[in-house]
Amino acid sequence: MSKLAGKQVLLIVSGGIAAFKALELIRLLRRQACAVSCVLTRNGAEFVTPLSLQALSESKVYTDLFSLTDESEMGHIQLSRSADLLVVVPASADLLARMAAGMADDLASTVLLATDKPVLVAPAMNVRMWLHAATQANMRLLQSRGIQVVGPDEGAMACNEFGPGRMSEPAAILSAIEALLAPDAVVASRPLEGRHALVTSGPTHEPIDPVRYIANRSSGRQGHAIAAELAALGARVTLVSGPVSVPDPAGANVVRVETAAEMLHACQAALPADIAVFAAAVADWRVANAAEGKIKKQPGVAAPNLELVPNPDILATIAATGPSRPRLVVGFAAETDDLMANAQSKLIRKNADWIVANDVSPSTGIMGGEENAVHIITASGVEDWPRVPKQQVARRLAQRIADWLR
Ligand code: CTP
Repeated sequence: MSKLAGKQVLLIVSGGIAAFKALELIRLLRRQACAVSCVLTRNGAEFVTPLSLQALSESKVYTDLFSLTDESEMGHIQLSRSADLLVVVPASADLLARMAAGMADDLASTVLLATDKPVLVAPAMNVRMWLHAATQANMRLLQSRGIQVVGPDEGAMACNEFGPGRMSEPAAILSAIEALLAPDAVVASRPLEGRHALVTSGPTHEPIDPVRYIANRSSGRQGHAIAAELAALGARVTLVSGPVSVPDPAGANVVRVETAAEMLHACQAALPADIAVFAAAVADWRVANAAEGKIKKQPGVAAPNLELVPNPDILATIAATGPSRPRLVVGFAAETDDLMANAQSKLIRKNADWIVANDVSPSTGIMGGEENAVHIITASGVEDWPRVPKQQVARRLAQRIADWLR
């Protein structure tokens, strides 16, 4: 029997180009014999028609708060409570803001305010709108009130921009619905339940004086995506992140640090862990003679000499044999020359179990790009993975880790 048979989901479809994905979600839910009814907002109706929602859901579609017929057939209070779960798909920036403010000025927002059932939102919007402080504050507020969130994904968007804001795929939203409505049945799809994963991500900043620092171009995208995918498989994730502008991944406990020394300290404090993935681009050196005050230019005085000293190797320190060594230690190797030889020597030198190696020569377009082509190097050989978006590399790596631990 399917996991969702006999359950009832109320889909709230708001305005946005991603509204078309609601149709595929209805199809997936109906295939599992899950009852679906829909509320379509006025803006949502600009993207999908009530008729297509009705045809696929085989149920009435509600569109108007003040429809006398709807109110006599099923009032908005009853509508909000007859379902086992409310799913907002897509959740526009506007509807999320109205939810956060507790507004009830159309049927969708009224139902969301009146419900006593769990609510899952699948945000979809332009990357700037998603990253805007107002939207991020609304999301934090909604999550603190128990609203569940799936996505958004990162990728190319209809507005020709790239970044987080694209609505999760219907299959991922279905998994989130299953996790909420049939948690026992999905234990099998959360193979890392009960495991603790430590992930490092982003660059480190090494101060020269209070206003200047040495850094690198790491965005933290790959490490953050790995943290999100490990959490999606059920792991408790501690993400130790250097300064980045990518948003916190859903489901991870984020510890923010600046320097390599702080990153090492945060990693050691997070132990014990079953899994450790070191995706951070840690600065190899720090300034030994960092100034307490801002270094000033003075006419006739030579430019300051910066004395560099090596930073601790975080991966090698955590991977050193001992009782607190995680069972699986995964490092990265981004190389421009002799990829395999360099990666293999890092595997041994740093005592890692796997090295995820990639060629970051400019001709590959991988550095700062959307895709990655990696090779997984272990003591028993090399796996060459195809070139795919970075999020898919993260998903495949998380699954590979789960399989190994099993
Ligand atoms: N790493 C680390 N701490 C450091 C340096 C690197 O934890 N101080 C980790 C990285 O997170 C990565 C792996 O070691 O998982 C390899 O990093 P990389 O910069 O490629 O290697 P390095 O040891 O710095 O060697 P090189 O820069 O000479 O290639």
